[in-house]
Amino acid sequence: MTTTKTLYLLCSAAPPVFDVARVIEDAQARGWDVCLGLTPTAAHWVSGSLDGLAALTGHAVRWQYKLPGEADVWPAADAVLFAPATFNSLNSWALGLTDRFVAGVAAEALGKEGVPVVAMPCLNSALAAHPQFDQSLAVLRGAGVTVLYGEDGFTPGPAGPDAPPHFPWQSALDAVTAG
Ligand SMILES: Cc1cc2nc3c(=O)[nH]c(=O)nc-3n(C[C@H](O)[C@H](O)[C@H](O)COP(=O)(O)O)c2cc1C
Repeated sequence: MTTTKTLYLLCSAAPPVFDVARVIEDAQARGWDVCLGLTPTAAHWVSGSLDGLAALTGHAVRWQYKLPGEADVWPAADAVLFAPATFNSLNSWALGLTDRFVAGVAAEALGKEGVPVVAMPCLNSALAAHPQFDQSLAVLRGAGVTVLYGEDGFTPGPAGPDAPPHFPWQSALDAVTAG
């Protein structure tokens, strides 16, 4: 299949980020040219795979802003998927705190016409009970983001285990493909 559309896949530091190579391959099989952006913590978690992920996508894996005057190394996005979105990253995005590269990319995407933005949070039920979380979901949904959380998306498990019980990556890819 010809890859003509560019997907920015933005990942923060929750355990599903360890699936990212397989998810990139699945997105490519659906026709996406994938550019991978990571939070600094997520980049640290997958630091041993960064060269391989760059080779897989054919683009630089980014977790830092470019320097002033440097060229943009990614093509323009046709869609943005922020997954897994940690409690920290989701709240930062909703609050407009863009000190992290992926938060800046995600924040700008809200103001770009015709670029669908999908987010799948990943957090436990204790963090989900924090009052900011519902507010952040409401802000992002109000800005047009398709937030896959609850019945049609990620369902939080209890606090404690290192990894969530299930992260529905295929639903996230379905949502960006649906546009
Ligand atoms: C093993 C492990 C699992 C974690 N899982 C999650 C998670 O599922 N959701 C979450 O919001 N934070 C989780 N965290 C905490 C985040 O990694 C931490 O808040 C980090 O600062 C998030 O940074 P980022 O949003 O910039 O990636 C986990 C941390 C560890 C060590």
